[in-house]
Amino acid sequence: MNTDKRRILVTSALPYANGPIHIGHVLEYIQTDIWVRFQRLQGHECIYVCADDAHGTPIMLKAEADGVTPEELIERIEAEHRADFRDFHISLDNFYTTHSEENRQCSEYIYQQNKAKGHIARRVIEQAYDPVKEMFLPDRYIRGECPVCGTPDQYGDSCENCGSTYSPTDLKNAVSAVSGATPIAKESEHFFFRLGDFEEMLKVWTRGEHIQQQVSNKLQEWFDAGLQDWDISRDAPYFGFEIPEENDKYFYVWLDAPIGYMASFKNLCARTDLEFDDFWNEDSPNELIHFIGKDILYFHTLFWPAMLDGAGFRKPSAVYAHGFLTVNGQKMSKSRGTFITARTYLDHLNPEYLRYYLAAKLNNRVEDLDLNFDDFVARVNSDLIGKVVNIASRTAGFITKRFDGRLSAHLMNPQMYQDFVDAGGSIASWYERREYSRAMREIMALADHANQFIAENKPWEIAKSVDAQASDESKALLDICSLSLNLFRVLVTYLSPVLPVTAKRVETFLNCPISAPGSWQALNKPLLNHSINPYQHLMKRVDKQDINDMIEDSKHQNEPGASATADSTENTTITIDEFAKVDLRVARVIEAQHVDGADKLLRLTLDVGDHQRTVFAGIKGAYEPEQLAGKLVVVVANLAPRKMRFGVSEGMVLAAGPGGTDIWLLSPDDGAQPGMKVS
Ligand code: 2FM
Ligand code: ZN
Repeated sequence: MNTDKRRILVTSALPYANGPIHIGHVLEYIQTDIWVRFQRLQGHECIYVCADDAHGTPIMLKAEADGVTPEELIERIEAEHRADFRDFHISLDNFYTTHSEENRQCSEYIYQQNKAKGHIARRVIEQAYDPVKEMFLPDRYIRGECPVCGTPDQYGDSCENCGSTYSPTDLKNAVSAVSGATPIAKESEHFFFRLGDFEEMLKVWTRGEHIQQQVSNKLQEWFDAGLQDWDISRDAPYFGFEIPEENDKYFYVWLDAPIGYMASFKNLCARTDLEFDDFWNEDSPNELIHFIGKDILYFHTLFWPAMLDGAGFRKPSAVYAHGFLTVNGQKMSKSRGTFITARTYLDHLNPEYLRYYLAAKLNNRVEDLDLNFDDFVARVNSDLIGKVVNIASRTAGFITKRFDGRLSAHLMNPQMYQDFVDAGGSIASWYERREYSRAMREIMALADHANQFIAENKPWEIAKSVDAQASDESKALLDICSLSLNLFRVLVTYLSPVLPVTAKRVETFLNCPISAPGSWQALNKPLLNHSINPYQHLMKRVDKQDINDMIEDSKHQNEPGASATADSTENTTITIDEFAKVDLRVARVIEAQHVDGADKLLRLTLDVGDHQRTVFAGIKGAYEPEQLAGKLVVVVANLAPRKMRFGVSEGMVLAAGPGGTDIWLLSPDDGAQPGMKVS
């Protein structure tokens, strides 16, 4: 392993601030996070930043449909995204937004530099315009009949039925998806980034180590087709940054989005002793690495390096693209319940299951990856529980009960331990190359050896036959369990980039660093004559029922009222009749308890007048359980019971506020009685 300390700045693609994170996004964040954690574990400096991609027409229109300002919308979504990242244990150093002063400055600077060097052209173009809404229409907002096969209600750029691509002016009977009006053609002046100016530089850059082989091939096709000027301006109304020295012209969202990487880092620099120039200067010796999905390669391997080059900044050291996530072999689908948001997943399943499952399947190629739920259950249960956790659960108790929690002073099979340590070299190189599936396979092969060792030595049988602590059998029992736990430590250290929570628990259990920088190298020294703490349960098996419940839940999120996933085309209002169906009641909190493993939830026992109920409420950040006993609250009494990871929730408690510590329970005055209807 390279022992020189590297300085690496890593990014994941910025999620749009108009909808929830779903498990397709999560694939990328987990892929990136594992790499980042691995680098830190090796002792390298690895800074990981991301941000919400907050500009553009869809965000502007969604805010309008929701009856809020774009700023309010992106603030709300940002809070949700932050919570999702936190709960999936994505170890970001900064999560910011492209709608920031830093990003405005960086975007203006990059534009001005390119403009000064003659890389910006201006031209009048003709585009579809909605005369009612008085706005130019992006292709996705024009619907009509496919000019090739006649299928109605197709987008302005491509047909879902026959797959043809065309220009919106070719659509028959086109209408604006915003107002329903017939679009007219209208001229306006646009600004173009002259990508062709950078062809030679890009050809050299893309031939280097910076990109995957499959991507190089794709790039060759793009070079062969010729690099076109890129339209970087949009007319008002638009939610974004105004172009300096122009009137009512805005940067296209994709201009300032990648600059958001830079701005998020800049924002981090202001709070730490990191230096912006160390990572962005033209001659920076440090690494800049972008993880992205295959759909946004053009932006990251052509426009982005060219913009940076034109403005005198360094270019990325690498752009790593992954494929898409399919679920049970198909595209994620709302009606099948496989369009699963990060939050719905977290409501039902342990995030480490998905982290492991994806790691077990990820490689460094641009291939789609299938999340098959039967395979998910089998793999997590057999590998994590059956192979890894099992090693500790079968041996730790003897050390605690019979040997006062102290491991043996010597290793009974030093060669076996050394083999485990030596395997670290190749496991590390798989992680480094993003071949996580190979790393997982090697780790599980080692786990098989450890289990075989335990099965052959049967510590439980020795334990049955010995009672005197000083006997030879007792010594054998100590040695078997001590070696097993040393092997377990090695395995969990190797797995710690994938399983950060389990690694932390094992750190407490084994009383030694597992995921701290340098822990990998520290494996050279086994734990001898070392005190450990009593074993606490590490992870429970995946229950197929939890997956079924999650899928059921995901199906219902498509129904009216589930606004968290409603997109801008869905109706976001409800009728008075629909509202009347909601049965709001006063309830008294009898007891509130912490929920094991839940960061935000409290388990409330409520008196609803004639009976009691259990409701899980996400109010832990704002209330201590003791504060709640006796309090009156308002509950949705006729909400269908919902099975969550922690139990069944029989209703919902109403509260106000953006979340975290800012939540206020709606608490009726003392005059109210449990069971009373709220109107
Ligand atoms: O495709 C997307 O979801 C974009 N929001 C990704 C932006 S990545 C970066 F360039 F900002
Ligand atoms: Zn068609």
